[in-house]
Amino acid sequence: MARIIPPRVTSHPSWKALKEHHREMASTHLRELFSGDPGRAARMRAEGAGILLDYSKNRITDRTLDLLLELAESCRLSDHIRNMFGGQHINKTENRAVLHVALRLPRSARLVVDGVDVVREVHEVLDRMESFSRKIRDGSWKGATGRPIKNIVNIGIGGSDLGPVMAYEALRFYADRSRVFRFVSNIDGTDFAEATRDLDPEETLFIVSSKTFTTLETMTNAHTARRWLLESLKKEESIRHHFVAVSTNSQAVSSFGIDTANMFGFWDWVGGRYSMDSAIGLSTMIAIGPENFRKMLEGFHAMDEHFRTAPFAKNLPVLMGLLTVWYTNFFGSQTVAVLPYDQYLKRFPAYLQQLTMESNGKHVHLDGSPVDTDTGPIFWGEPGTNGQHSFYQLIHQGTRLIPIDFIGFARSHNPIGEHHDILMANLLAQGEALAFGKTADEVRAAGVPELQVPHRTFEGNRPSNTLLARELTPAVLGSLVALYEHSVFTSGIIWGIDSFDQWGVELGKVMAVRIIDEIAGKSPEGGPHDSGTAQLLDWYRKNRKK
Ligand code: F6P
Repeated sequence: MARIIPPRVTSHPSWKALKEHHREMASTHLRELFSGDPGRAARMRAEGAGILLDYSKNRITDRTLDLLLELAESCRLSDHIRNMFGGQHINKTENRAVLHVALRLPRSARLVVDGVDVVREVHEVLDRMESFSRKIRDGSWKGATGRPIKNIVNIGIGGSDLGPVMAYEALRFYADRSRVFRFVSNIDGTDFAEATRDLDPEETLFIVSSKTFTTLETMTNAHTARRWLLESLKKEESIRHHFVAVSTNSQAVSSFGIDTANMFGFWDWVGGRYSMDSAIGLSTMIAIGPENFRKMLEGFHAMDEHFRTAPFAKNLPVLMGLLTVWYTNFFGSQTVAVLPYDQYLKRFPAYLQQLTMESNGKHVHLDGSPVDTDTGPIFWGEPGTNGQHSFYQLIHQGTRLIPIDFIGFARSHNPIGEHHDILMANLLAQGEALAFGKTADEVRAAGVPELQVPHRTFEGNRPSNTLLARELTPAVLGSLVALYEHSVFTSGIIWGIDSFDQWGVELGKVMAVRIIDEIAGKSPEGGPHDSGTAQLLDWYRKNRKK
């Protein structure tokens, strides 16, 4: 029977209309859009789950929005949202449900998926995490020699690292300052060596976080941690006092020597990059305490509810996901810059890189046919104002169009003098300067010599979203992460791709394993490599320390 191929997004009438409309918008300046329309900012804002989105500084009109919303309808976004929340197997290539939203459902909810009430299971694990975290925090969990745990080292990579590190940094204000938290991810031995150099094994707990418990980097680091511990504590028996695991693979956890009583589970319906609010967040819970962790889950859930129920025209993730499509596919933008004006969010752009790029970096549709549009853009960023003194030059005056998400807060956890007002003034100034620029006439009028005029002219018309919240609390962090999760989902639905698999990471992994064997002399020298790789491998073998 012939396969039924769903219509390509590019064949939808709204896509064609957007293409037409873009011709007009390409030459329309934000100056015109604002000057002729005093109600623009009031119209182009939306609020949900404690976050305000001002999207008025985008190169859009009401017509653009209507067409984008029409596009969402024609791609049946509502049905797809319903399917995700309902536990359908929307991750087609792995035949799995995608249910990170179930990780933050309240205890009273019920969601039966494949015959199992997942909410009950989620809360069982949360309760076990809570009781374990309390024991670490009150000192009743002892190391093998009877000393309480002072240092917590999370070993994991990708989603089993980036979420925990980002959340620890973001919520550091709430963290138990009497404890040391470290994160080891890189296979580079330097990561482990530097993370443990000043730690006393008797007071150290390792959380080995790995969904599969097979990831090369994590397992290598976990075995190194085991040796590091046993060098001091000698007895195998001490392992169970100093190692716990977060995984879906109890067999592998047990063969590593970790008591499965000290294993915190999660499920195949939680993708690695969507797992910071599962047991993968154990280090976060120990750091900020179970109450704060639960507040973070409430923030996630509030944004889930907003996404599920708010009309698309007022729906933050939908609007942001559609704007990403607008710039990526109609303006040809290649990247999105995420610029948090908050030092605590310094790892947020790195976290978003996995979330957005592992999800939407895809080249085929769900049915396997090649995409006929660009898909996920490159996400990058740094906290303001540091970025201002480094790469903002290119955003202001370079030749590329880089849509921006500014993120800021009304209140600082560290209100020192005028710092916070200066910080926020910079955020506001950048959005304004990028949008409106400075014309050559304005530059001349300021007395600038003619030679410099072109260099000091700012074209403007650089788009941005501004996301504001009252304070960076656990709940607000949860809402912010869920906002990006669902905006990635929205764009993925428009592109018709599977945002929940990540086959693209496999090939390199397999090839690395082969080369590891060649370096170790376990497989024939100079295997079937291209001449460039063979030459590099040869150089490495000759020069490496034996
Ligand atoms: O790099 C691919 C990946 O599978 C990510 O999706 C995942 O977050 C990471 O590796 C770690 O996987 P695990 O938690 O199974 O160790």
